[in-house]
Amino acid sequence: MRKTRILVTGGAGFIGSAFTRKQLENALADRLVVVDALTYAGTRERLNNIANPDALRFVHGDCSDQSLLDSLLINEQIDIVVHFAAHTHVDRSISAPDDFIHSNIHGTYGVLESLRRYHETHQRWIRLHHISTDEVYGSLPDSAATPDFPYRPSSPYSATKAGSDHLVHAYTQTFGLPATISHCTNNYGPFQHPEKLIPHVISCLLSGQSIPVYGDGLQQRDWLHVADHVEALSMIVHHNPDEAVHHISAQTSRNNIDVIRLICDLLDEYPDKGFLTIHHPRSYPAIGRSCHEAITFVKDRPGHDRRYALMPTQELESWGFRCRIPLEAGLRDTLNWYIQNGIWWKTVMDNSRSESITNKPNS
Ligand SMILES: NC(=O)c1ccc[n+]([C@@H]2O[C@H](COP(=O)([O-])OP(=O)(O)OC[C@H]3O[C@@H](n4cnc5c(N)ncnc54)[C@H](O)[C@@H]3O)[C@@H](O)[C@H]2O)c1
Repeated sequence: MRKTRILVTGGAGFIGSAFTRKQLENALADRLVVVDALTYAGTRERLNNIANPDALRFVHGDCSDQSLLDSLLINEQIDIVVHFAAHTHVDRSISAPDDFIHSNIHGTYGVLESLRRYHETHQRWIRLHHISTDEVYGSLPDSAATPDFPYRPSSPYSATKAGSDHLVHAYTQTFGLPATISHCTNNYGPFQHPEKLIPHVISCLLSGQSIPVYGDGLQQRDWLHVADHVEALSMIVHHNPDEAVHHISAQTSRNNIDVIRLICDLLDEYPDKGFLTIHHPRSYPAIGRSCHEAITFVKDRPGHDRRYALMPTQELESWGFRCRIPLEAGLRDTLNWYIQNGIWWKTVMDNSRSESITNKPNS
C-alpha cells in the first residue's frame, strides 16, 4: 500500500530533523523531501546515519522560493507539507528582525502560495501542517492558553510566528486550504543549537564559562522533550484530525533558574569524571569546582515574557498520546548527549559565531 509522501521544510533544524528521523526509523512514509535553507541554525549532520536513507531527499533551498516548491510538490507527488522552517532565536529577533520577517512571514507565504497554485492546477489539495509556538499567546499570569485565546506576541520572533499562523488561517478561510496548526512549549533534547537555554547552560558548564541568567531567573516555561513532541506531530500528520489547532504541552512548568540548578546538580553528580577530564578538561567538575558557581544573573532581556502555558487539546489524547519523558530523566539524557557529542556542538558554535549577536540564552 502506498504510504504518505511528506515535504518537510526546515528539516535540517532541531525539531524538523527529529521528525524526519522518526518517519524514516518507523517507516511511516514512502518519501521524505527536506527543504532547508541551511541558515546558521541548520546542519546536514542532523540527518546523518539515518534509517532508510533512500527514502530521503535533501534539497538546499529557501521556502520563499515558490518555483522550487511548485516543482517539488508535483515531481515528488507530495501528500502533506509539514512546515517547521523559521528563524527561532528570540535574542536574534531583537537584534536583527529582518531574517525573521523573511523566513517566518515570506517563507510561510511561499509555502501557502505553492499549495494554492497546486490546487488551482490539479483540482486537488495537498494538506499543510504548520508548527507554531506557545509564545504567540504572550505572557500569561496564571491561566493556560486554549486555542481560542487572543494572540499577544511580545518579541519580533513571536510576532512573526503569529503572522504566519494568521496567514495559514486566512488561506483556510479564503481558499479552503486543509491546514492544521500545532502550538508547543519549549523543546529540549539532542541536536538543539547551543544558543538555546538548556544546551547553552550545558555548553557553558562544559567549557568552564559562567551561565548568564536573565533577570531574576523566575521566568516559567513548560519543557517538552523533542521525542514527545515529534510523537504528537506524527499522530497529527498520519491521522485525519478533526481539530484544526492542537496544543502540545508536557505540563512540567519550571522556573528557568530551577532548570539551570537541576542541570548543575546532574553535572556535579556525573559519574564518569574521567571522561569529563579527557574530553571537557575546562568543565567545572574536571577542575574540581561546583557547577553552581557558574550561575551569574545579568540584565533581563527587553520584553521578556514571564510565563507561557498551554492547555493540551483533547484529540491527541483520544489517539493515545501522552508525554513519556519526565523532565529529570530527559535532562539527564540530554546532558549525556552533549557530553558525548562535544565535536558537534563546538563546530555548530564556531560556524554560528560570525552571526552570533549575543552569548545569552533564549527563553
Ligand atoms: N525549539 C523550540 O523550543 C520551539 C518551541 C515552539 C515552537 N517551535 C517552532 O518549531 C519550528 C522548528 O524549530 P527548531 O527549534 O527546530 O528551529 P531551528 O532553528 O533549530 O531550525 C530551523 C530550521 O529552519 C531552516 N530555515 C530557516 N529559514 C528558512 C527558510 N526561509 N527556508 C528554508 N529553511 C529555513 C534553518 O536552516 C533550520 O534548519 C519553528 O517553526 C519554531 O518556531 C520551536
